[in-house]
Amino acid sequence: MALEKIPVEALTEEQAAAELAFLAAEIAHHDELYHGKDQPEISDAEYDALKRRNEAVETRFPSLVRDDSPSKTVGAAPLPTFAPVTHARPMLSLDNTFSDEDVRDFVSSVYRFLGQLPDNSIAFTAEPKIDGLSMSIRYENGRLVNAATRGDGTTGENVTANILTISEIPSRLPAGVPGVVEVRGEVYMAKSDFLALNEKMAAEGKQTYVNPRNTAAGSLRQLDASVTASRNLRFFAYAWGEMSEMPADTQFGMVQTFKSWGFPVNPLTERLFGLEDIIGHYREIGLARPDLDYDIDGVVYKVDRLDLQARLGFRSRSPRWATAHKFPAEQAFTKLERIDIQVGRTGALTPVARLEPVTVGGVVVTNATLHNEDYIRGLGNSGEAIREGRDIREGDTVIVQRAGDVIPQIVDVVMEKRPAGSVEYEFPKTCPVCGSHAVRDINEKSGKIDAVRRCTGGFVCRAQAVEHLKHFVSRNAFDIEGLGAKQIDFFFEAEDPSLSIRTAPDIFTLEQRQSASLTKLENIEGFGRVSVRKLYDAINARRTIALHRFIYALGIRHVGETTAKLLARAYATYEAFGEAMASAAPLSGEAWNELNSIDGIGEVVARAIVEFYKEPRNLEVVSRLLEQVTPEAAEAPVATDSPVAGKTVVFTGSLEKMTRDEAKAMAERLGAKVAGSVSKKTDLVVAGPGAGSKLDKAREFGVEVIDEDQWFERIK
Ligand code: IVH
Repeated sequence: MALEKIPVEALTEEQAAAELAFLAAEIAHHDELYHGKDQPEISDAEYDALKRRNEAVETRFPSLVRDDSPSKTVGAAPLPTFAPVTHARPMLSLDNTFSDEDVRDFVSSVYRFLGQLPDNSIAFTAEPKIDGLSMSIRYENGRLVNAATRGDGTTGENVTANILTISEIPSRLPAGVPGVVEVRGEVYMAKSDFLALNEKMAAEGKQTYVNPRNTAAGSLRQLDASVTASRNLRFFAYAWGEMSEMPADTQFGMVQTFKSWGFPVNPLTERLFGLEDIIGHYREIGLARPDLDYDIDGVVYKVDRLDLQARLGFRSRSPRWATAHKFPAEQAFTKLERIDIQVGRTGALTPVARLEPVTVGGVVVTNATLHNEDYIRGLGNSGEAIREGRDIREGDTVIVQRAGDVIPQIVDVVMEKRPAGSVEYEFPKTCPVCGSHAVRDINEKSGKIDAVRRCTGGFVCRAQAVEHLKHFVSRNAFDIEGLGAKQIDFFFEAEDPSLSIRTAPDIFTLEQRQSASLTKLENIEGFGRVSVRKLYDAINARRTIALHRFIYALGIRHVGETTAKLLARAYATYEAFGEAMASAAPLSGEAWNELNSIDGIGEVVARAIVEFYKEPRNLEVVSRLLEQVTPEAAEAPVATDSPVAGKTVVFTGSLEKMTRDEAKAMAERLGAKVAGSVSKKTDLVVAGPGAGSKLDKAREFGVEVIDEDQWFERIK
């Protein structure tokens, strides 16, 4: 360090060489802290000073420039994250099926949706579900132009430089391919490469990796692509995004085309007809699983014909034409040490099993869910006995099960090992956090008692308030980077008024409160100047936000992402939504009817939303939030040029050329809103034979009525 004090002009050559060595190590160290650990030790200004000094010494002694000089490292200027890439077509996920029965349901739902008898005439492809990371790789005029991770399905991360290091992925395609090609598939690490890497790490006395999937993900998300290059990642192509031309008209044909273009495709892919053959192939792949050099967690079935795929379309996140048939969960025995109660955002008391650590399918498990108090007592959802009525007690030896990413569960108890003198677990009747009564509601519709016991403390309950905040900043809501669970706990507990965050609007006033305060966040352990700046930037970046994210973030009971999207689409602006919910308060009248007529929103959900808007405390929080944040109007319907775009359509009576589900999906694709009942706001009723009260209502309101043929004529 002493050398730093000597002016560059006064350095001898020997001193300069020593100083450059010192600076290279020092800057690399800070780069690692900044990028790798997200915990810089010095300010940006100090970091810049080191870089400038390095440059000055190098300018004076060009012959001393080192191979590892910080001036040579590409992208040495701090690149905090990967650039976002908006996918030309969203990257969806798959529905899961777990039993032969589920697969039968999937196959029959395909036939039903298409209005066909289940006569084994529809071909399905069946292929392994690779346990890696999905990737979308875009080629323009045959050249790889960008590669992106799945991200949230809409926006991923640009990892082009890293993907270019994977030798199995061609950087150029043969002549004659379509102008725009997006090949999608799975990047993974071979089991053998994973084991070799871990042997090497162990030999060097370094920490070993947990499993091939996480290692592949970590290897890919490296700002320094040479690390990716050293890891020998691999690829299987199985899907596509935007294509300027379709080279085939079946799933199987597409994958074979990718193969002919030089992509690796999975050799266990088959085209099959009928449930028996499909399940047969699943069993075969299951038997082959231990010998494969890559991890798989199930078999994916897809409708082979692309025209049928198009007719089947999508639900909000997954295609109707595909499903993933998962392999059975892995199980292990361990001791249940204790049952803890967690209080969630909606006040639900969830019992969590604290376990003696045990490895289940390669992952160490220490916690598992026990669902609810009936589950612990050996009762199922309808009060029937489960586990032959065996209850679960602290101290029991239990069977833990893990399947994929699902939270581990306790599936059974080993009665022979139950300790003498153990007592039945008594579920608390008060909230362990705030002490309020915890009750099981009676479901108004079914008259059944709710399985979940809830804390009645509402805003008084710290647990509910904290969980609300965590939900608010979570990925599908406001997605504020740098505000994770740990930070929320910290801000919530903070006593200093310039640091405290108790409700969502407080997040957006933090920077302002801090600027006027002497208690500086950056001086608090775990924060630091750079990360505080990053946090404020991340917060400010969300001052405008998509309407559906805003609605979802409010944390209204039963309003998940899909419902939030339906609401955003139906009401378009927050003002319209807020006003309508206030008007719907009496649970009758036009606003209430309109809410209930939104397809996909049932009465339970509608009630929950209206209840939320009746609570003055919620209104107060929302109005303070709106002073800070602007929800953007929801996007206009997709196909604006279609004659039914933006129209509210109701289908009634029996349809003959398409199934009800297909009609609905088709109308939505064309930008229409499909409602379940007729109101003054309905634009069009498509009535088939046997239409009854909806047709009468349409006549009463003077709504246009057409038949199925006229519908097809209109949307031609
Ligand atoms: S098809 C629209 N095929 O599974 C459907 N996905 O749970 C696109 N995956 O995000 C996916 N192997 O990462 C498909 N043979 C396969 C797959 C596969 C693995 C992953 C993929 C996807 C996830 C969905």
